[in-house]
Amino acid sequence: MSDKVAIRFQPQRAEIAVERGQTVLEAARIGKVGLTHKCGGHGTCGTCKVQVDSKTELETPTKVELRHLSEHRLAAGFRLACQCKITGPATVLVPEDPLRRVVRELLEAQRQERGDTDSQFEDGCLEAADAE
Ligand code: FES
Repeated sequence: MSDKVAIRFQPQRAEIAVERGQTVLEAARIGKVGLTHKCGGHGTCGTCKVQVDSKTELETPTKVELRHLSEHRLAAGFRLACQCKITGPATVLVPEDPLRRVVRELLEAQRQERGDTDSQFEDGCLEAADAE
């Protein structure tokens, strides 16, 4: 019997069903959610930082996470996506690249000026960039 749990990624608004025990990075890969992971998930680069909702169920931080994240950041919900395993329903905030944020805000402003409610094209562009 499958033991799947839902993990939600923000701001991508992606919800993915994954096996309990998979890492957040594995879930992001399955859901094609863009998440920086320069060392490929080996716990050496620290670039896969995400912030989890306080109600999210994850395993306790690993020694690798304790090396990369200060007490303050851990208390604020930051984790390394390649290290933390999902033990229950999870909501994860993926920090947005500053340049991507500027592009997204410009696209949203243009959309509002046009009164356009169909954002599929712009969303598709950003999602395609995420998948790279
Ligand atoms: S991908 Fe490098 S520490 Fe997580």
